[in-house]
Amino acid sequence: MGLPVAPEVLVLEKRKVERNMKIKRYFRGKNAIITGAASGIGRAFAEQLAAIGTNLVLSDINMERLEMVKQALIKYPIQVVTSLCDVTKEKDVEELAKLTVGTFKTVDFLFSNAGTAMGGHIENISMIQWQTIIQINIIGMINCVRAFLPKMLEQQSGHIIVTSSICGSIGTGGLIPYTTTKFANSGFCEALYGECKGRGINVSIVSPFPLKTNLIEEAGIIIPPGLLDGISPEIAKAAINKGKQYYWENFCARKGLISGFCGGMEVDIAVENYLRKIANKKLYIFERWHGRFFQFVRGWWPSLYKRTLLLLGNRSIKLFDKAFEIAQSSVP
Ligand SMILES: NC(=O)c1ccc[n+]([C@@H]2O[C@H](COP(=O)([O-])OP(=O)(O)OC[C@H]3O[C@@H](n4cnc5c(N)ncnc54)[C@H](O)[C@@H]3O)[C@@H](O)[C@H]2O)c1
Repeated sequence: MGLPVAPEVLVLEKRKVERNMKIKRYFRGKNAIITGAASGIGRAFAEQLAAIGTNLVLSDINMERLEMVKQALIKYPIQVVTSLCDVTKEKDVEELAKLTVGTFKTVDFLFSNAGTAMGGHIENISMIQWQTIIQINIIGMINCVRAFLPKMLEQQSGHIIVTSSICGSIGTGGLIPYTTTKFANSGFCEALYGECKGRGINVSIVSPFPLKTNLIEEAGIIIPPGLLDGISPEIAKAAINKGKQYYWENFCARKGLISGFCGGMEVDIAVENYLRKIANKKLYIFERWHGRFFQFVRGWWPSLYKRTLLLLGNRSIKLFDKAFEIAQSSVP
């Protein structure tokens, strides 16, 4: 006979089983479309939803990586369709909606997840850089919602999940273009909830930061004028990558409350947490306590909130300045 199990352990086990049942009931046998599914958070959503039994349309601009994700899902008894789709292009997203409806007839979940990051000193950001991030992070989301919402309204059901960021809840100096677009993501979703919940549509705002993904690979870093002038594009790219790597490693380092918001988290753990909260139809979804804490401080303790803004901004700008130094010193 084994050792007796404490009643509290049994209660916890029972709760875990009930939670898992709820997640399965919410997602199993349903249909989901995910943008930016080739990597990071989108990939983890695809893998975990596939394991639960959700049929998937996966899209990205990186087809090589996307096909690798599809290959990894072959073991599950679900339907998986992949499609090249640049979310900044209205036509691409309309085609994606046609493909999804044509394949599955219904659309239960839209994960508008594709996105990018950008940071540096505000005075050095060009209009082209502003337009690039606005196109991907804001227009991309609008294109997706515009393309899929009519079908959901017709069904009178559906759940729209937008990957925003904790930068969509707290302004982060050094990351002004990113913060701007992520506040737009969160604001759009709040208003969408207010307008469409009564018509059967759920909305969730996933607000990560920081997770260990490939976000930094394509992220824009705003190099100060003159820093890498006269250097060949290949050498400049390698130098910039060194700087970005330094920034990201330190941004994600677990040093304290402000340093890296408690450290970079494994993406699979975060996504497991998101799926549970999506199934519970939460509006704002954070994987850790600091998101809700910042929202509370913003509402109830403005002086502490302003201090936090200063701390975050100073820290981020210092990290960028060091990253620029590293980029410059790495040039042979
Ligand atoms: N990793 C983090 O710490 C973090 C924190 C907050 C928010 N986010 C947000 O999470 C989302 C996913 O990022 P991630 O961390 O998984 O990064 P990632 O780089 O690993 O994945 C992003 C994916 O989006 C795709 N993509 C980029 N531009 C696209 C476009 N125009 N059309 C279609 N696909 C495009 C990329 O090819 C990539 O596969 C983004 O919106 C990002 O802003 C990430």
